[in-house]
Amino acid sequence: MADQGAMAADRFFDLRWQRGARDLIGPLTRLYGTAHDIPALMARVRAVLSAHAARRPDDLRALDLVRDVDPDWFLSQDQVGYVLYADRFAGRLADLPAHVGYLRDLGVTYVHLMPCLRPRPGPSDGGYAVMDYGAIDPRLGTMEDFEALTRALRAAGMDTCIDMVLNHTAREHAWAEAARAGDPFHQRFYHIFDDDRLPREHERTLVEIFPDQAPGNFTFDPDLGKWVWTTFNDYQWDLNWSNPEVLLAILDAMLTLANRGVTVFRLDAVAFMWKRLGTTCQNLPEVHDIIQALTQATRVAAPAVIHKSEAIVAPRDLVPYLGTGRHAGRVANLAYHNSLMVQFWASLAARDTRLMTHVLKTHFPEGFRRACFATYIRCHDDIGWAITPEDTARFPPMTDWGHRDFLADFYNGSFPGSFARGADFQASAVTGDRRTNGSFASLAGLESATTPEEEGLAIARILLGHGLIASFGGIPLLYMGDEFGLLNDHSYLEDPDRAGDGRWMHRPAMDWAAVRTIPQGRTRAARIHAGTRAILAARKATPQLASHVPTRILDPGHPRLFVVERLAEDRVVTCLFNFSEEPQAISPWSLRLDPARRYADRLTGAPLRLEDGAVTLPAYGQIWLMPG
Ligand code: GLC
Repeated sequence: MADQGAMAADRFFDLRWQRGARDLIGPLTRLYGTAHDIPALMARVRAVLSAHAARRPDDLRALDLVRDVDPDWFLSQDQVGYVLYADRFAGRLADLPAHVGYLRDLGVTYVHLMPCLRPRPGPSDGGYAVMDYGAIDPRLGTMEDFEALTRALRAAGMDTCIDMVLNHTAREHAWAEAARAGDPFHQRFYHIFDDDRLPREHERTLVEIFPDQAPGNFTFDPDLGKWVWTTFNDYQWDLNWSNPEVLLAILDAMLTLANRGVTVFRLDAVAFMWKRLGTTCQNLPEVHDIIQALTQATRVAAPAVIHKSEAIVAPRDLVPYLGTGRHAGRVANLAYHNSLMVQFWASLAARDTRLMTHVLKTHFPEGFRRACFATYIRCHDDIGWAITPEDTARFPPMTDWGHRDFLADFYNGSFPGSFARGADFQASAVTGDRRTNGSFASLAGLESATTPEEEGLAIARILLGHGLIASFGGIPLLYMGDEFGLLNDHSYLEDPDRAGDGRWMHRPAMDWAAVRTIPQGRTRAARIHAGTRAILAARKATPQLASHVPTRILDPGHPRLFVVERLAEDRVVTCLFNFSEEPQAISPWSLRLDPARRYADRLTGAPLRLEDGAVTLPAYGQIWLMPG
């Protein structure tokens, strides 16, 4: 029997390799064909894959089979993601399974554990400066704890997502240590320059990611006596992806983790992976070849695994991360919908949805092949106001900089009448650009609310956001604590390793005391939690909201409403969102509702009743209309 099992596994591997090789040869040839022997490289990739496939644990192998047969599993309306810092949520990894019931009650099917691989000591960009891809951060536990956790989550029907930091390693990673010790093989893993001539040339077209805390894109390393490319902090060394050894090494690291139970990899900062003089070195075509190579190779050895690209870029650059042209259906299955997030906040501040409707309607297709968005309202990062100037210019008197300044001021709370309590992040002396920090609830007005009425409005804004990401199409990602309105936390200022990075303000620890008040149903936390839970339950009960169903933005000519149609084959679901604190009315004709049919709201189950012939929404109200 065991022999037969092994034979079947070999046969599956061969079949998957035949399929995968077709999708690997193109990217590898384009990336490395001019300087390297491609058949030899293909053979090395195959050897890495087959070694990991042979070591794949039985339970994961069983999941591989399920997902190979049903590769669209992640498009189900049942999918809900939750993003947490293990230590801030539970303590150590071993303490997390005790909270699985809480997550299950919310409807979570996928848990993103924020950076949990071993980071460099001292400041580590929140763990995004990885020292060892094969080890768990000792403060969180051991690899055995991690495996046990992934098994516990799997048993509860949940995927485990972790960050795979692809653009850089810590300066203390073994590869960088070897490079610093003079090893030429590992020096080629990074972008190292003898003097600052080329770095200075590059700087002319590069932007600064952390102009405040880490200006410039290059760092002089005293050990090397040379310059190193460091897009982010000076201790994060950019990997040189034009060297196929980097691809092989990362693939090996990723598949090792896949065999430990990771089933979703968040590919961090992918936009920056390829460099070319005279460009911004962001979103270059080669990036999509690298992602295709990594994802399609993984599919051969571990088909249970999917990937999510983190590219926080302008709409035009975002779409290809979900697979367009030759890459359609062949890159990461998920990508963050950064534009939806930005437009949510922009509309909320302006009480005006016209820009949002325009951007989301014109720049995005209604669907993708074997891919969908990860929708979110807040995450651990700041909000960058990535709105294309030409889009803003369509709505005079708005101007690009005027609008950006308005948004930054509104969300740092200084704009007159603002309900938000956030803070500026990385104000650039060169461009004047400012980004924004703050938790969902604090930005939405819960922190500033002093009356029951203001509190009610803030809660409605939070639920508006949760409702938007749950119905838009894609997997909604809830950031830890946003399901019950956690506020900003300024305690990071007391920790020297964190004090320099204002993003910690919106990474508060889980407040289990507040969670315990939820069953009483009267506190703010309880109201937000109940609303969020109901939204997620309504999503799950509506197959028409699955992510393979096309998303069409409707422009009904109403400047306070945002309207999304989900074009299911049997019935169209029309989701309306009111972005103002005034009730709004709209005629059913503008919404293209069928007068011959009866509609009901999927959120409340209530039949649609017109008031004075119009569909009406209360302050920050939402309604998901579906014909019966
Ligand atoms: C991603 C992370 C961010 C980090 C950066 C560099 O954007 O989300 O927190 O600073 O990558 O690794």
